[in-house]
Amino acid sequence: MAGLGVGLIGTGYMGKCHALAWNAVASVFGDVERPRLVGLAEVDAALAARKANEFGFARSTDDWRDLLADPAIDVISVTTPNRLHAEMAVAALEAGKHVWCEKPMAPSLADAERMAAARRAAGKVAVMGYNYIQNPLIRHMAALIGAGAVGAVTHVRIEMDEDFMADSAEPFYWKSEASSGYGALDDFAVHPLSLLSVLVGMPVEVMASMARPYAERPLREGGRREVENHDIASVLMTFENGASGVLMANRAAWGRKGRIFIQVYGSDGSMLYDQERMNEFQFYDRNGDPAMHGFRTVLASGHHPPYGRFVPAPGHGLGFNDLKIVECRELHAAVAGAAAHVVDFDRGLAIERAVHAMARSHFERGWMNVA
Ligand SMILES: NC(=O)c1ccc[n+]([C@@H]2O[C@H](COP(=O)([O-])OP(=O)(O)OC[C@H]3O[C@@H](n4cnc5c(N)ncnc54)[C@H](O)[C@@H]3O)[C@@H](O)[C@H]2O)c1
Repeated sequence: MAGLGVGLIGTGYMGKCHALAWNAVASVFGDVERPRLVGLAEVDAALAARKANEFGFARSTDDWRDLLADPAIDVISVTTPNRLHAEMAVAALEAGKHVWCEKPMAPSLADAERMAAARRAAGKVAVMGYNYIQNPLIRHMAALIGAGAVGAVTHVRIEMDEDFMADSAEPFYWKSEASSGYGALDDFAVHPLSLLSVLVGMPVEVMASMARPYAERPLREGGRREVENHDIASVLMTFENGASGVLMANRAAWGRKGRIFIQVYGSDGSMLYDQERMNEFQFYDRNGDPAMHGFRTVLASGHHPPYGRFVPAPGHGLGFNDLKIVECRELHAAVAGAAAHVVDFDRGLAIERAVHAMARSHFERGWMNVA
């Protein structure tokens, strides 16, 4: 059987990440047919041609709709800025393609709902780019929490911080436009929400406050432009079982490079994880000899599938791009009709609803239900 025919839209940071995953998935897992890298699209024909050569795609175009018309393409990777996701994903689904779309779904809830509806109407697979849930250790932590290793979950804290927008002299680009969403909520908080969804479930109530550390940024071409969204968000949360939680997101946090710090506290123990040290997590168990109480550090190994598919040696470690390869493998499972560990468009929509409840909470100054 021929492998999936792939079309890639966008070749920036995430476009390259998808391309690496499409190239590697068959070699790493050995149980899927090698995808056929049919074509990619960029805004500029010369850039598209150069990237097709670098990424190993057979052809290139400066019109993404060309890819939808190609019968050799089965699945479209959407890796463009947020404001383009809905138009591209819906059009791809309507053209009968599966979709692998970068987060968030869309800045507007109506567009996210349109994407989920288009997926249901098309009966195709649509997977969101929530790579952090693919870490074998996150999967292991979720299984442990589900099996009661920390007892009843009582409190959760999750923080996502980076410093790529910490410099006030960093030029204005699409991430500061209102058309890309609320800022830290769409850009960052969606990732912690994807992690909460697999570790402890989604919040049912939220109260949020957003902040704008810099009112304007310089333009590359000269002059300045007002920053149209918020780089920082702080959120209180309540979960279905009554547990409380805190979610913080800051993309202007000097010194933080790829921090997603998770703390799960329960009646019998607790668990800690930081994405900057993604090959380990810490576990505290209240049982046993109190004289030996303390956090235990667990290193990633072949006991945490699918780690062993990448490297046989324990503690040697996976990296960010590897998570995307796992996500690509899970997408293959979904296309084959098997159980898949992914955030599909329906679960993605639940994340969007939480984001919009947080934003409403900020603007209306009060607790909001996540409907
Ligand atoms: N999953 C993750 O961990 C993660 C990390 C970073 C970014 N993202 C998401 O990925 C998306 C892209 O972010 P990025 O950092 O890769 O941005 P980027 O600016 O590096 O890349 C976007 C690319 O899309 C291209 N593009 C824009 N309009 C296009 C069009 N009409 N046709 C074809 N190509 C077009 C741009 O030229 C650019 O090369 C965003 O939605 C972002 O939220 C996800």
